[in-house]
Amino acid sequence: MNILIVGSGGREHAFALKLKESPKCGSLYLAPGNPGTEKLGVNTNIKVDDFDSIEKLILENNIEIVLVGPEVPLVKGIKDHLLSHPKLKDLIVVGPDKKGAQLEGSKDFSKMFMLKYSIPTASYKTFNQNSLHSGIEYVSKHSLPVVLKADGLAAGKGVIIAETHKEAVSALNEMIADKKFGESSATVVVEQFLTGIEVSVFALCDGEGYLLLPEAKDYKRIGEKDTGLNTGGMGAVSPVPFADEVFMKKVKERIIDPTIAGLKSEGINYTGFVFFGLISVSGDPFVIEYNARMGDPETEAVIPRIKSDLVDIFVALGQKKLSQLTLDVDPRTATTVMLVSGGYPEDFEKGFSISGLQNVKDAVVFHSGTSLKNGDLVNSGGRVIAVTALGENIQDALIKTNAAAEKITWSKKYYRKDIGLDLC
Ligand code: AMP
Ligand code: GLY
Repeated sequence: MNILIVGSGGREHAFALKLKESPKCGSLYLAPGNPGTEKLGVNTNIKVDDFDSIEKLILENNIEIVLVGPEVPLVKGIKDHLLSHPKLKDLIVVGPDKKGAQLEGSKDFSKMFMLKYSIPTASYKTFNQNSLHSGIEYVSKHSLPVVLKADGLAAGKGVIIAETHKEAVSALNEMIADKKFGESSATVVVEQFLTGIEVSVFALCDGEGYLLLPEAKDYKRIGEKDTGLNTGGMGAVSPVPFADEVFMKKVKERIIDPTIAGLKSEGINYTGFVFFGLISVSGDPFVIEYNARMGDPETEAVIPRIKSDLVDIFVALGQKKLSQLTLDVDPRTATTVMLVSGGYPEDFEKGFSISGLQNVKDAVVFHSGTSLKNGDLVNSGGRVIAVTALGENIQDALIKTNAAAEKITWSKKYYRKDIGLDLC
């Protein structure tokens, strides 16, 4: 079967490598892909939200499966667009339609959804320009810290955790009145701060049932021991020791099952990944956020542990038979370490030559923010390369990923050496 992956990051590279392993994968296309995926499939010049060109590519190349990596095309309605074409009625789209993607595209929608279906989450209230005055009053009296979230997509930057009332009031003003995140922060969700440890759980849904994937823990802060600014993710570990059978039973019963049932009740034929960003508060799971896609860098840790054929899984999705599948998972631990440009997540320099990739042993390399300049591989994004290794435990895997991280070099490269150590 010919397959298209939409996206250009490490997540998409990890999917490309896994799909290419399947004897059932025919030609693989990427829109647009990156220098790492070039060896696995056909990179195109098509942007992730250029739906007309994506549709043309699918029609011209007899593509039967489309996997949508990032959130933007999902929230903009890529699935609705493609399936409205008379010749693409049978296309398998791994990714929800516009309505389903609201789980990620609107924090207000997702909070209302959780309230309606009694899914545990932090208590909240929503404010906009018309209710700014009462919002200011509300945050001024809220327990501290208090969490403010831009309703719409904000590339992972739309969450502010205010430690003081003064900070909370000015953040609310900046978001709503000054449009700090543009239209995305015209509406703001104000919610209770939850204290606990986070874990990302993933379910692949077919509109009827779902297949649970291995969970992972993401490391969001730039500095070791979880200090400094938030990033897109500095590394990941899978499995997560505290997400044991008892915890996962609670997750399934209190969160996953009611979410899938809720989506059905809302008339949403959700085909794709639901990413449950959870926090364990004294052993009880609460939803911090939903995403309508897989995580990055979580995918780079989760996918290498899956032994089952991913093409078979996507075909089962198309047939609404996912709940009949049993996933074959490598019991070993995967650690993923993200190598980033020095200065990230603030300003950083691009265009430095990257070397040493050929010296990496016992680890897999996923390109994230690289590009080719006159045939030379250079850094072109904040998060540049993810390396993943499997080991008998976290320490064992981390020794391999850190050794690989040392072998890859460019000017001002930075990475965290403590990924997963908090779980040991
Ligand atoms: P989000 O974009 O909703 O995932 O939020 C980004 C990060 O902010 C999360 O990964 C958490 O670390 C933190 N966060 C968000 N909401 C809360 C909350 N209610 N309580 C504590 N931390 C939170
Ligand atoms: N790593 C978090 C995310 O993909 O949103």
